[in-house]
Amino acid sequence: MERILDVNDLHVSFDTFAGEVKAVRGVNFHLNKGETLAIVGESGSGKSVTSKAVMRLIPDPPGRIKQGEIKFGDRDLSKLSEKEMQKIRGSEISMIFQDPMTSLNPTMTVGKQIMEGLIKHQNMNKSEAKERAIELLKLVGIPDAEGRVTQYPHQFSGGMRQRVVIAIALACNPRVLIADEPTTALDVTIQAQILELLKDLQEKMGTSIIFITHDLGVVANIADRVAVMYAGKIVETGTVDEIFYNPQHPYTWGLLGSMPSLEATEEDLIAIPGSPPDLLDPPKGDAFAPRNPYAMKIDTEMEPPLFKVSDTHYAATWLLHEKAPKVEPPAAIKKRLRGMAPDEPIIATKDGERNV
Ligand SMILES: Nc1ncnc2c1ncn2[C@@H]1O[C@H](COP(=O)(O)OP(=O)(O)O)[C@@H](O)[C@H]1O
Ligand SMILES: [Mg+2]
Repeated sequence: MERILDVNDLHVSFDTFAGEVKAVRGVNFHLNKGETLAIVGESGSGKSVTSKAVMRLIPDPPGRIKQGEIKFGDRDLSKLSEKEMQKIRGSEISMIFQDPMTSLNPTMTVGKQIMEGLIKHQNMNKSEAKERAIELLKLVGIPDAEGRVTQYPHQFSGGMRQRVVIAIALACNPRVLIADEPTTALDVTIQAQILELLKDLQEKMGTSIIFITHDLGVVANIADRVAVMYAGKIVETGTVDEIFYNPQHPYTWGLLGSMPSLEATEEDLIAIPGSPPDLLDPPKGDAFAPRNPYAMKIDTEMEPPLFKVSDTHYAATWLLHEKAPKVEPPAAIKKRLRGMAPDEPIIATKDGERNV
């Protein structure tokens, strides 16, 4: 499988009056060609900072990429100049954000905004770009594209605006699309339509997608693989099936347990107790330990490495150490997992090995 993007040991910090906020603390992930990788985690876990770092959009100051490699083909994006990045942004890697209004210019017609990238990156003249803008509006499912191309963002509904944003992002046929909570601001029906559209466009255009969300509920339908993020680190990564049916990290159990679903009744929902750690002064061992009912002594002393569960599945929890007591997800979560996959065993395997 061809790797489009390979992020290694990424560290991002912000210098504040209170001290250094260590927002991203050694993140590793890769994106395969044509796949969708979901990055999931509670608010504040570092999802947006990670994706902005890939785009080199971290405001500096106060932020900076302290360390790490962002390999995109044979280039390391962390080392490129702003001028070189401008050639990549919008043409090879595009990003869409939660609120379409902040990414659209209210004083410019949507057509002009789609045309900008085409003229800048694809050497199109005005009439070619306008024709392509209309095609793109049709592609993202906007009715009466010819009439709509000369309208302004405020003339579109929230869902239609997000379609325009997607048209702008995909105009130059980028190899990578980073979608940061693209449906969070939309109501559930529109949300589903936008997810469907992204899937459909990915099939047509072969785009590789990083889909960022705090909502594990939308992941199963859209992602191939999942990376679970907590306190600036990826704590578990695997295929969608591995994460949903054989989760290993107690934080992932927590996310699954607090996820509303068709099978779950109100009392099955279990919120994760406590709150994420202070990233000004992250704890010494496993950052999840204070919220982890299965925490052991070692969790407060040493950070767990990523243990291998399968070739595609890794989790950073001491529970996977061969000497750790054998524990299973809480009964309520097991019940819910069974609701999702009746035949799958949900047992934390202890044959994991240290991944160095
Ligand atoms: N400009 C900034 N200055 C200081 N801290 C920041 C800044 N931007 C983000 N952070 C901090 O980085 C951490 C991760 O934030 P973010 O990536 O936005 O989380 P997520 O997208 O997962 O909700 C948070 O603790 C946040 O407060
Ligand atoms: Mg965010």
